[in-house]
Amino acid sequence: MKNKLIVALDVNSFKKAKKLIDELSPYVSVFKVGNELFTTCGPKIVNYINNKKKKVFLDLKLFDIPNTVKGATLAAAQHGAFMLTLHVIGGADMMKEAREVLKGRKRKPLLLGVTVLTSAAGKGATKWVGKLALVAKKSGLNGIVCSAKETKAIKKACGKDFLVINPGIRPAWAAKNDQKRVATPAEAVKSGANFIVVGRPITQAKNVITAAKRILRELK
Ligand code: C5P
Repeated sequence: MKNKLIVALDVNSFKKAKKLIDELSPYVSVFKVGNELFTTCGPKIVNYINNKKKKVFLDLKLFDIPNTVKGATLAAAQHGAFMLTLHVIGGADMMKEAREVLKGRKRKPLLLGVTVLTSAAGKGATKWVGKLALVAKKSGLNGIVCSAKETKAIKKACGKDFLVINPGIRPAWAAKNDQKRVATPAEAVKSGANFIVVGRPITQAKNVITAAKRILRELK
């Protein structure tokens, strides 16, 4: 893995995503495909990224009955996802089914639990994220997604091997957009994040390569 930066490809066409991937591939090892892009392109975009020898964070935020989530998790594994998200509030049975269906597979995605969205305001978030993280860990997930404000507490409660991924990353020079519980790239990594997810500060920058390089410098 080149570094801790994951770029979120929240765009509405294969062409736009391809352009970003082609430009950023020399600097980025993992690209995040979320609901907008996956609904637009389907597995084609996952194949494109994998064929470039890059990894796919499939951020589908699954939340459904256990049997449906099990089926979607298996499909994500078959497409070659490196990471997959599911909502922790979907419950322990749902998360266990997802974990079980991957058993024995050679290539399987890391399962990450979504806790409290970083677009939600901070009041009480740390407590909630802490509770949800413990449920996720007990249910066999590999880690969680949360804001940088919560990383330290999660690592302390769940152990250093439990992965913590931070979106809501905003360098000092970028607009906040709809994100509320934000942190800079350096703050997130200092708090112990295994990966940071950055979307618009890079993808909507005038020059996406310059923006990505600037963030990578801040991570050092
Ligand atoms: O553009 P921006 O940097 O805000 O993108 C953040 C990305 O991380 C989006 O794709 C969003 O769906 C995702 N995300 C998030 N908060 C979470 C989980 C995922 O912002 N808790």
